[in-house]
Amino acid sequence: MKKASYLVLALFGLISFSAHADVTTAEQAAKQYSLFAKSTLSAEEGKAFYTKKVVVDGKDLSCSACHTDNPAQHGKHNVTGKAIQPMSPVTNPQRFSDINKSEKGFTKHCKDLYKKDCSAQDKGNFITYVLTAK
Ligand code: HEC
Repeated sequence: MKKASYLVLALFGLISFSAHADVTTAEQAAKQYSLFAKSTLSAEEGKAFYTKKVVVDGKDLSCSACHTDNPAQHGKHNVTGKAIQPMSPVTNPQRFSDINKSEKGFTKHCKDLYKKDCSAQDKGNFITYVLTAK
């Protein structure tokens, strides 16, 4: 094999084994939402959205009610008590690696809380915020 081919292989190896590959995927997802929203994203607004309490069936509910105050940690379903994998791609590489799955999650939970899907701006801010979690 030629030297150049080894180099290409090595590069692919680096990309697929890089710990940041999944964070990059999440960043790309956030960027897509930002393009849809035609606006820049804000981690601060994402945090406000993540922790915002709304009253559903007489009870306070928020994204953080199940995904916990720290998105880098395991969540817990507020009703069933079932464990939920961390929302942040920093500690959970699966997060936002599949945009269709993420869209389903957003639509379902936004409807639970707000009776409608969230905006691209909210979704982009949400991802931007969870990426800052440690
Ligand atoms: C009643 C509990 C509960 C609440 C409240 C909740 N979620 Fe979830 N969420 C879950 C569960 C359970 C899953 C599916 C299991 C998993 O993906 O780990 C999930 C998954 C998701 C996913 C899929 C992520 C992916 O790509 O893997 C997204 C996005 C999401 N939730 C966003 C939200 C947002 C935004 C809010 C607030 C508006 C919210 N959730 C509120 C329980 C909840």
